Amino acid sequence: MKFLIFTFVGVVHLLSLGAGKAIYRHDMVSQRTFQEIQKEIARYGDVAKAIIQLAVYGNAQNRSYDRLALLVDTIGPRLSGSKNLEMAIGIMHQSLKDNDLDNVHLEPVKIPHWERGEESAVMLKPRIHTMAILGLGSSTGTPPEGITAEVLVVHSFDELKIRASEAKGKIVVYNQAYVNYSTTVKYRIQGAVEAAKVGAVASLIRSVTPFSIYSPHTGIQKYEDGVPKIPTACITVEDANMMSRMASRGVKIVIQLKMEAKNYPDTESFNIVAEITGIKYPEQIVLVSGHLDSWDVGQGAMDDGGGAFISWEALSLIRDLGLRPKRTLRLVLWTAEEQGGIGSFQYYQLHKVNISNYSLVMESDAGTFLPTGLQFTGSPKARAIMKEVMSLLQPLNITQVLSHGQGEDINVWIQAGVPGASLIDNLYKYFFFHHSHGDTMTVMDPKQMNVAAAVWAVVSYVVADMEEMLPRF
Ligand SMILES: *[C@@H]1O[C@H](CO)[C@@H](O)[C@H](O)[C@H]1NC(C)=O
Ligand SMILES: *[C@@H]1O[C@H](CO)[C@@H](O)[C@H](O)[C@H]1NC(C)=O
Ligand SMILES: *[C@@H]1O[C@H](CO)[C@@H](O)[C@H](O)[C@H]1NC(C)=O
Ligand SMILES: *[C@@H]1O[C@H](CO)[C@@H](O)[C@H](O)[C@H]1NC(C)=O
Ligand SMILES: *[C@@H]1O[C@H](CO)[C@@H](O)[C@H](O)[C@H]1NC(C)=O
Ligand SMILES: [Zn+2]
Repeated sequence: MKFLIFTFVGVVHLLSLGAGKAIYRHDMVSQRTFQEIQKEIARYGDVAKAIIQLAVYGNAQNRSYDRLALLVDTIGPRLSGSKNLEMAIGIMHQSLKDNDLDNVHLEPVKIPHWERGEESAVMLKPRIHTMAILGLGSSTGTPPEGITAEVLVVHSFDELKIRASEAKGKIVVYNQAYVNYSTTVKYRIQGAVEAAKVGAVASLIRSVTPFSIYSPHTGIQKYEDGVPKIPTACITVEDANMMSRMASRGVKIVIQLKMEAKNYPDTESFNIVAEITGIKYPEQIVLVSGHLDSWDVGQGAMDDGGGAFISWEALSLIRDLGLRPKRTLRLVLWTAEEQGGIGSFQYYQLHKVNISNYSLVMESDAGTFLPTGLQFTGSPKARAIMKEVMSLLQPLNITQVLSHGQGEDINVWIQAGVPGASLIDNLYKYFFFHHSHGDTMTVMDPKQMNVAAAVWAVVSYVVADMEEMLPRF
């Protein structure tokens, strides 16, 4: 997960006008009452129980965990532009073919290639202290001898503005409090730009996490045209707090920062597509997805191995049960999500001509711990239908349908008016490990993945098999 976007309500109507026409027609054709739709959904009770039985208690138990462990233990992390990512895509492409899914293919896209190289930050004053850091994605490097400069500690962009005259020639350290991810991540994204605007030579941010055992948490950052590109990295909560205490005592802090980070030309990569082709309306799509790329630390098991592999598992479960929905169930494993939804945006550009035939887009990129339900964005009518669909998961007590269905890779579709769903689980825990060395299989729980996969399979299958697409209005 890279961003969380919670407020696009205002945009939906504007952008969906063009795409909406065809759907309006679908709506007009429908003479069915909500009661009839309720009855239709209730008839999926046995299918839902069969999926739950197979995924949680039966032969498919722990399969998504085991498959994921094999991939990430073999390949490791899968940074955009890296050989590892290329190898993982090759393995997944073959695995989906071996799983006997339909129309398995790669769709080429161009993605960023950045490498961190060697990096270090050593506090020289008031005492020697080597800090754990991680350069932020797309950061430039320092000269080979590093940048040695005095530190200015601030706690917010507002404080930086007030103290702008002190920043020139210094390394700005942000010790911003953790509020929540979507609020606090601004310091990671814009920290370097804001520091450079007031003349800083580098910037270090406190890692964006609610919890730390001395763990740096990387992620993408963005430069702005016309603003000097200064090197930027994250440091631990512990070091940010300590420097903040030192500064408040009036102690002078000096750091030597060395980073070999470098941006290379874009490279070729692929989104991976696999389907269970619909039997009655093959042109119509329910899309389930997660991203295969990750940061270059840990194993990318949680972000987003889990989401990618429960999405694959959803199709595997439906295949195992010999089910074939009326419309096409399409799995997409995105590439270069972490650099800003790069692969998914190119998929959208290519496939938006068919937007009127997308019933639902789903993305799991916020953990596959024990889910409590779905977040959903769509019309009140569509939401009422999703609540009925989720009632099929009563045997697992996972029936919530909250608002703000979203995901970096599906937001463009949602903003253009397509209903969108994401999985709800414990985000607080998710950010303990996010983009850190700690994102490994040790964080994952096979039983929780079984349940998450069952939810994903029931929802995607039922929406793909219902007589009508989800209404957009
Ligand atoms: C699935 O994993 C759980 C938790 O590790 C374990 O208790 C269970 O025995 C596993 N099931 C199978 C069939 O291996
Ligand atoms: C994050 O915090 C901000 C500021 O308190 C708040 O406006 C926003 O709704 C919060 N977002 C979430 C997802 O909780
Ligand atoms: C759009 O859908 C049609 C079928 O309705 C299909 O033939 C075509 O390949 C699709 N285009 C893309 C880019 O997916
Ligand atoms: C959408 O699917 C319908 C059949 O279900 C087909 O007639 C129509 O051409 C498709 N629309 C697009 C834009 O491909
Ligand atoms: C069912 O889930 C809800 C949260 O979604 C929880 O509050 C409740 O305790 C659960 N009930 C049981 C019987 O586990
Ligand atoms: Zn992610």
